[in-house]
Amino acid sequence: MGQIIAIVNQKGGVGKTTSSVNIAVSLAVTEVKTLLIDMDPQANATVGVKDLFEKENKSIYDILIGQQPIKECITTTKFENLDLIASTHDLVGAEIELVSLMAREYQLKNALETIRHQYEYIIIDCPPSLGLLTINALTGADSVIIPIQCEYYALEGLGQLLNTIRLIQRHLNTTLSITGVLLTMYDSRLNLTKEVAEEVRSYFEDTLFKTVIHRNVRLGEAPSFGKPVLLYDANSTGAKNYMELAEEILERER
Ligand SMILES: Nc1ncnc2c1ncn2[C@@H]1O[C@H](COP(=O)(O)OP(=O)(O)OP(=O)(O)O)[C@@H](O)[C@H]1O
Ligand SMILES: [Mg+2]
Repeated sequence: MGQIIAIVNQKGGVGKTTSSVNIAVSLAVTEVKTLLIDMDPQANATVGVKDLFEKENKSIYDILIGQQPIKECITTTKFENLDLIASTHDLVGAEIELVSLMAREYQLKNALETIRHQYEYIIIDCPPSLGLLTINALTGADSVIIPIQCEYYALEGLGQLLNTIRLIQRHLNTTLSITGVLLTMYDSRLNLTKEVAEEVRSYFEDTLFKTVIHRNVRLGEAPSFGKPVLLYDANSTGAKNYMELAEEILERER
């Protein structure tokens, strides 16, 4: 039965999409059957793997609002072990359209029930908000990964996020857990990075992944070629960090 992990932080630009794409691809190349779901109207994850598929299928919007069968919305990629549910800009309106639906928080969860047995991992890239799209992801997920950028104000908003997770656990998804907290854009030359890392470690202790994602230009360049970093530059620090992280995720779930 597929383990469903939402990559979540309402703060923008912390590395959610970079992590979603590269975790999903790293799992897939280790022969773990993986589905990547793009829940963000910005569709950055979809664009970030564009080079891997020929024809984009129906999207997450069609599932959440159009009530299309999820099976018909899966985009296959040239990796046998990686599938995608794409996003489109239509999703911008979904937050409002969802409000009037019955069981609006459960749309994704209900859709995933019919396909989760086909995958070992399902990775959901969330938008930078705590609206109904993120609530759908948290309600449908088994666990979350929280990326934290090693920057000023890194911990700002974290209390609100943890509070939202607690509310979801209480009301919508009692078994939701935290797989791990991930430090991104880590720069070991900077004192600031070390300070943020120390603060996060003292708060989250063992929940913090041992693997950190270093700041690496290759990670920033790869999406403009529609490629995950492993295909863009397999020897880059970014590619190595995400492979290591995938290993650590597999270990934690064992
Ligand atoms: N480790 C890294 N090293 C260098 N650049 C990075 C790294 N991680 C992410 N980036 C770049 O930082 C920017 C923000 O990353 P990303 O899009 O993954 O964040 P996000 O949390 O998904 O943003 P949003 O909240 O807008 O969805 C992107 O331009 C990305 O290429
Ligand atoms: Mg993103």
